[in-house]
Amino acid sequence: MGGDAMIRRATDADLPLVIKLLNEASLPAAGLAEQRGHLYALVSRETVVGAVGYEVHSPDVLLRSLVVAPAARGQGRGLQLISFILEQCRLDGIRNAYALTTTIPHLLSRLGFEEVKRSAAPAALRSSDEFQGSCPSRARLFRIPVTAGLTPPKAARKSRKKEVRA
Ligand SMILES: CC(C)(COP(=O)(O)OP(=O)(O)OC[C@H]1O[C@@H](n2cnc3c(N)ncnc32)[C@H](O)[C@@H]1OP(=O)(O)O)[C@@H](O)C(=O)NCCC(=O)NCCS
Repeated sequence: MGGDAMIRRATDADLPLVIKLLNEASLPAAGLAEQRGHLYALVSRETVVGAVGYEVHSPDVLLRSLVVAPAARGQGRGLQLISFILEQCRLDGIRNAYALTTTIPHLLSRLGFEEVKRSAAPAALRSSDEFQGSCPSRARLFRIPVTAGLTPPKAARKSRKKEVRA
């Protein structure tokens, strides 16, 4: 899964490319520079082909900037980034990881995230830029307790196949 790609902390030099990927995917890039301590780049053959990060709203985080370059999609890199960032959260002692999404609600559910009402989000999270406007208001909110870990992708895939057959 993920081929030769590796994930490392994003550098100043990576930012323009990450912002380009986010713009092309219609994801918000506001506040990215400030959050750089928690922004990671997926690099293949010395080129940035993806990113993921989180904003701290202690004791929780909001996952953001999950993107894989169109030409690099469908090879497990999205899952590689999601499991990487959750492991980072675990190492950083984070309690819950939240994500706002319009594009991958089914994928997050399959991986073990639970949908929660936006109004039930912790106050610190609700005051974030993403909640306040940079993410569309139709974006759905998901949460996973960091220590719970992801549903293994293979099991998630099997359960989706069952859904499709049903
Ligand atoms: C979402 C994204 C990061 C996935 O990257 P990827 O490298 O293609 O993901 P993977 O190859 O690891 O695929 C993982 C699973 O997600 C599914 N998936 C990927 N993109 C999906 C989408 N947009 N909607 C639903 N499912 C999706 C794949 O089918 C795959 O399922 P499978 O394992 O059962 O085959 C990529 O499509 C992307 O950058 N999209 C645009 C930005 C975006 O929407 N980001 C999410 C913001 S919350």
